[in-house]
Parts: sequence; structure tokens; C-alpha cells
Amino acid sequence: MEIVNLKPKKHIIVCVNERENEDCCMNVCGMELFLYLKNYVRNNGLSGSVWITRSKCLGFCNNTGAVAVIYPEGKWITEIKEDDYDNIIKELRLF
Ligand code: FES
Repeated sequence: MEIVNLKPKKHIIVCVNERENEDCCMNVCGMELFLYLKNYVRNNGLSGSVWITRSKCLGFCNNTGAVAVIYPEGKWITEIKEDDYDNIIKELRLF
């Protein structure tokens, strides 16, 4: 085992889970949200301090919008739609 001590200023985990015939974030634009945030971070020079990670199910499946959690706050956001993306970006403004 190796322990690596790295602590980004923000870490957003976005569900991109996919299921057949059940609610899942892949069906409500989870991947689009992940790519939007990833590109924002990359294009604004934040890659070293803001991490965007995709994940399997985060446990808040619905048929309305994607699910993400922001650390270190532990702020869970559910039912995220495209109109909400800029509000999530505001959470990344640290400096
Ligand atoms: S599939 Fe995304 S929270 Fe369950």
C-alpha cells in the first residue's frame, strides 16, 4: 500500500452511471455535466486545484437531472439540469 497525500481545493464527483430500464444519471446528462466541468477546469487553468471525477451511482438516482457532490464542503446536488451548470461553476470560484 502507498499513501499519497494530495488535497485539491475542490473535488467534484459527478455520477455518470448507466442502467437499462431504470433511472440513472447517464440518461439525465450526467456525462454532459462531467465533460462541461472538466473542460471548464482545463480551460481556466484550474486542473491542479480543482478535480473533477466521474463515478458510478451516488445513491440519488432520479429521472430529472444529474447528481454530484462537492468536497470539501460535502455539498450534494441532485436533479442538476443544464440551466444549473453555471451555479455549479460558481462553487469552483476559489480565488
Ligand atoms: S445513477 Fe446517478 S445517483 Fe444513482
